[in-house]
Amino acid sequence: MTAPASSDTLMEDIVGLCKRRGFIFQSSEIYGGYNGFYDYGPLGVELRNNIKQAWWRDFVQCRDDMEGLDSTIIMHPKIWEASGHVDGFSDPMVDCKESKLRYRADQLFFAPVSVDGETIGYVSVVECIDQQEVAEKAAAEMKRKMAKQGDLDRIILKEYTEAKPEQYELIPSPATGKPGSLTKPREFKLMFETKVGPLADDSATAYLRPETAQGIFANYKNIVDTGRVKIPFGIAQIGKAFRNEITPRNFIFRSREFEQMEIEYFIAPSADWKTLHREWIDTCTDWLVSIGLPRAGITEDIHPEDKLAFYSQATTDLMFQFPHGEQELWGIACRSDYDLKQHQEHSGKSMTIFDETAKEKYVPHVIEPSLGVDRTLLAVLSAAYTEDEVPNDKGKVEKRVLLKFSPKIAPVKAAIFPLLKNKPELVEAAKKLYKKLQRRWNVFYDASGAIGRRYRRQDEIGTPFGITIDFDTIEKDGTFTLRDRDTCEQRRVTEDELVKFLEEQIGG
Ligand code: GAP
Repeated sequence: MTAPASSDTLMEDIVGLCKRRGFIFQSSEIYGGYNGFYDYGPLGVELRNNIKQAWWRDFVQCRDDMEGLDSTIIMHPKIWEASGHVDGFSDPMVDCKESKLRYRADQLFFAPVSVDGETIGYVSVVECIDQQEVAEKAAAEMKRKMAKQGDLDRIILKEYTEAKPEQYELIPSPATGKPGSLTKPREFKLMFETKVGPLADDSATAYLRPETAQGIFANYKNIVDTGRVKIPFGIAQIGKAFRNEITPRNFIFRSREFEQMEIEYFIAPSADWKTLHREWIDTCTDWLVSIGLPRAGITEDIHPEDKLAFYSQATTDLMFQFPHGEQELWGIACRSDYDLKQHQEHSGKSMTIFDETAKEKYVPHVIEPSLGVDRTLLAVLSAAYTEDEVPNDKGKVEKRVLLKFSPKIAPVKAAIFPLLKNKPELVEAAKKLYKKLQRRWNVFYDASGAIGRRYRRQDEIGTPFGITIDFDTIEKDGTFTLRDRDTCEQRRVTEDELVKFLEEQIGG
């Protein structure tokens, strides 16, 4: 019997498991932690690498129209002027003067509270899964405290960015519940600055890249000139990005240092970009399903035309049901020829390509699928986290926590157990198999504790297969017990069958 983990505690459960089992740690924990930064431990780094490798294999190596790139994190500052980041990459920020807490204005919501049409005050709430409910409760409480008779009007939440200047003084701070301490929104620059070279003046200012995409645009000409690319083609890159987020939160969902897997897919200006955009949305959705995310948990958020950036023709975000609500996982944008034209103008270098088929020269347009590694990892963890009940060694039913990772991305692919650790023949046979499998996959050897406990330890880190070496292995037919993590079902397999099965399940 499998019970889905309660969404109220799912994030806490995941954070706890990640720390307990060595997936993810708060950065600089011994110094009290550093907000917005996370370190990946032994299992986390495996999971992360497997996600990146699957993406690279499927989007770069298995496609004939894709080239890979690894550009630097710090690039010429002019790149960020050309891209518009220096002037425009900011978020609206609000301070609470009393509590000294800081909010992103587009994540802070407010509503007037009215009883039979008469406004009696305001409520505010920080964006959360049940913000409407929280606001309604606060409104009911306000009405009760003020002993107002009549019916509460509907609470219609708006972003703080939409507040009128006369409302700033009336909206309560979510921290104190009192009005008058919130500032008006002001723009906060998200790019991290640093200095390059021995001089510390303004001319030495450089930036840590806030997206990997600009490294692709800056190298587009190199790849066109040195490769044998033909329109349409893409350039893909995986790498770190940095944003001085005002409110990093929800674990690794929004952090200040993260990693992106980005593609710029160059197409002819006359191409049917709407169809190509649709194809990319479908390809990306299928890929998420291929690494174990439930299709039903993925939805599309089509940005309304009036909210698009001026250079964008269309943007659709693939949204995922994270523990803290449905949020953006993968942005798929049609960015026209904006970036290349900007770099052409600022660098003075031509960004045109000669299209052999159409026999014409042009600056291509791009479709940009942009995915966060850390966000994908959180989505994978949320989808995999399961609690169920299974019998222990003595037949008593016990609660079990397991991560139902797809074998393709599971950090440990299989665990090898000698049934007893004090029987040298069992240990020897188990170690022999372990060494053999270790050459191909990340496998784990464990001889300590009752076999049920050993299974449980592996279930909790998402190891899909358990292989036990028992007396039948060494005395009878050489077969092993192969246990499935999710069903706990066991069957006997020969070594050849085992290897073939693992190849099929893990791939690669
Ligand atoms: N080049 C386009 C671009 O960077 P974006 O929507 O700002 O677009 C793309 O970011 C993806 O990067 C997001 O969909 C998300 O997966 C990831 N991402 C963005 N900011 C992040 C953050 N602060 N922490 C973790 N992941 C982030």
